[in-house]
Amino acid sequence: MPFKILEKSQIVPTIHQIIIEAPKIARKARAGQFVILRIDESGERIPLTIADFDGENGTITIIFQEMGKTTKQLSKLQAGDSLLDFVGPLGNPSEIEQVGTVVCVGGGVGVAPIFPIARAHKEAGNRVLTIIGSRNTDLLLWEDKVRDVSDELYITTDDGSKGHHGFVTDILKQLLEGDEQISLVIAIGPPIMMRTVAGVTHPFGVKTMVSLNSIMVDGTGMCGSCRVLVGGETKFACVDGPEFNAHEVDFTLLMNRLMMYRTEEQLAEEKYECDREGCQC
Ligand SMILES: Cc1cc2nc3c(=O)[nH]c(=O)nc-3n(C[C@H](O)[C@H](O)[C@H](O)COP(=O)(O)OP(=O)(O)OC[C@H]3O[C@@H](n4cnc5c(N)ncnc54)[C@H](O)[C@@H]3O)c2cc1C
Ligand code: FES
Repeated sequence: MPFKILEKSQIVPTIHQIIIEAPKIARKARAGQFVILRIDESGERIPLTIADFDGENGTITIIFQEMGKTTKQLSKLQAGDSLLDFVGPLGNPSEIEQVGTVVCVGGGVGVAPIFPIARAHKEAGNRVLTIIGSRNTDLLLWEDKVRDVSDELYITTDDGSKGHHGFVTDILKQLLEGDEQISLVIAIGPPIMMRTVAGVTHPFGVKTMVSLNSIMVDGTGMCGSCRVLVGGETKFACVDGPEFNAHEVDFTLLMNRLMMYRTEEQLAEEKYECDREGCQC
């Protein structure tokens, strides 16, 4: 059954938002879960986090960054178009409990998936401090949405064009050194950012969770593509995660595995651009 795109917008350069009609998934979805979609019969399956869901209206919102062939192809779709496959909700929901003060950290496109998690922690009665960061103001997304579900919002930009001039981890360190007792930190963003977050929180002994974006194919624990090393044990991010204890994750292995298909990904992207532009090479 095709899944209809109800709304499509470009929210910042190279980052897009799509709202999809998917009532069954929307009814079951929880913060922290993801979907796997396929645009058409010849398309690859890609995992994207559920950035928002509305059980009443039966919609799922995804936010994605143009990275290669499939995300570029996805960015060309418009309201009224359909996706061939849209499978979910996949993965374990975030653990949401009343724990006190929770710091949610979102970097780049990771700001979107941190939103439903921050909202769920707020609804559970926690005090939510959120730190969001991007390279510059133009790339900062969902600031208002995130502010609405946070007791305090901190903004950082690498170039200093908005908020603190520097990284999300600078603010995180300041908060950890402050007077407030922090019970939990959750971070979503590029692997290098999540690794740095783990390094900052470790000396403070604060429980820290990260959502791992390892390469996924089936999303059911069968193919093994998404394997990650956590606490010395092999785990499958799709069924054991995607969230794991940041202090136990082998980030070097994660980053190496993300580069595994770089040549094939580049070829697929070049072929897609060639086909679109009708070149004869
Ligand atoms: C659980 C999960 C949730 C994710 N949520 C989001 C999200 O909300 N928004 C977003 O922009 N991106 C998200 N990603 C990453 C997204 O899946 C990749 O950007 C996308 O697959 C890239 O495909 P491509 O063909 O455009 O690029 P490619 O050229 O094929 O790949 C570019 C890079 O994307 C990553 N990638 C490629 N294929 C996969 C795959 N099958 N699984 C995981 N990573 C892959 C690799 O790091 C690769 O180097 C998520 C990944 C996972 C595992
Ligand atoms: S994606 Fe295949 S095992 Fe996780």
